[in-house]
Amino acid sequence: MAKSSILVTGGAGYIGSHVVKLLGERGERVVVLDDLSTGNRDAVLFGELIEGNTADTALVEKILQDHEVDTVMHFAAHTIVPESVENPLKYYRNNTAATRNLLECCQNADIRNFIFSSTAATYGIPQDDTSPCIETTATAPINPYGMSKLMSEHMLHDLSEACDMKHVILRYFNVAGSDPDGKIGQSTKNATLLIKVAAEVALGKREQLTIFGTDYPTPDGTGVRDYIHVSDLASAHLSALDYLRNGGKSTLLNCGYGKGFSVRQVVDSIDRIHGEKINVVEQPRRAGDPPSLIAGVDKIHQTLDWKPQFDDLDKIVDSSLQWERKLMEK
Ligand code: UD1
Repeated sequence: MAKSSILVTGGAGYIGSHVVKLLGERGERVVVLDDLSTGNRDAVLFGELIEGNTADTALVEKILQDHEVDTVMHFAAHTIVPESVENPLKYYRNNTAATRNLLECCQNADIRNFIFSSTAATYGIPQDDTSPCIETTATAPINPYGMSKLMSEHMLHDLSEACDMKHVILRYFNVAGSDPDGKIGQSTKNATLLIKVAAEVALGKREQLTIFGTDYPTPDGTGVRDYIHVSDLASAHLSALDYLRNGGKSTLLNCGYGKGFSVRQVVDSIDRIHGEKINVVEQPRRAGDPPSLIAGVDKIHQTLDWKPQFDDLDKIVDSSLQWERKLMEK
């Protein structure tokens, strides 16, 4: 029988679970490996969920063999920037060393395609933050999280010279929103991400939203980011899979919409969709935040057949609010 399963590591997490849903709906064979440290069993809507870690060589080898895996999508990672500063080795262990282990298993099992979740945190604070970051913009992570991912990118790049496995590295910008069906969403506890926090404030789960910094060199003084709906990010993974299956070469792609919104614009959107103003306070800048981070997206559109469907801040915010309501009912 032809090898045809897709191993999704971290498939019980926020982004991974959205990708598993799309893969399942498309009829792909999926197996999920997740240690459930931050993921949720209920979020895995398709395929078998195997509880474990990518650092477990014997387990990974067994899964690759038993499930006739030919493609690996690697989401499993720690993603909290301040935690990575306090505990860098935790990040290098799980995001870098465990990825090295997974890659070695993939090399030994002749895996053909590898899709890797990377991050705009690899760019650090871009020298020229007036224009979008393109894939050739210098990388200079300013925290262990970004560095742990960049090290994995380098391993993949080196490996592509040494074996036949092809990869697509996707550098995510600011991921937000939740599945339009309302079945899955972002369940992270003690979230720090702007849209999630703002939605929690709107629904009374938190007292107020703090705007970190109103004196940035941006149009309204607050930080600007490229927010991408998680379902569009998920569909980019399926496009990347098709690209590799059609013989595409290993590549690195930014994943965003190529436009930025300020913190105040996000707050306005929340107020508009929610129908009343949320409670906001202003504080000085948060350490390590670049003024503006926007994806250059020419390369992803030239490379993949990817058509975003939720490129609209209000849609992102609306889906976040709906998911927060759902979480309250649970
Ligand atoms: C996120 C990602 C990071 C990635 C980056 C890409 C996580 C934990 N972080 O970080 O890995 O590299 O996107 O662009 O996934 N803000 C407030 N108040 C808040 C929260 C945020 O004013 O309560 C502001 C921030 O100062 C920033 C903007 O909102 O200007 C977005 O912040 P946040 O949602 O935390 O994401 P990033 O820090 O950009």
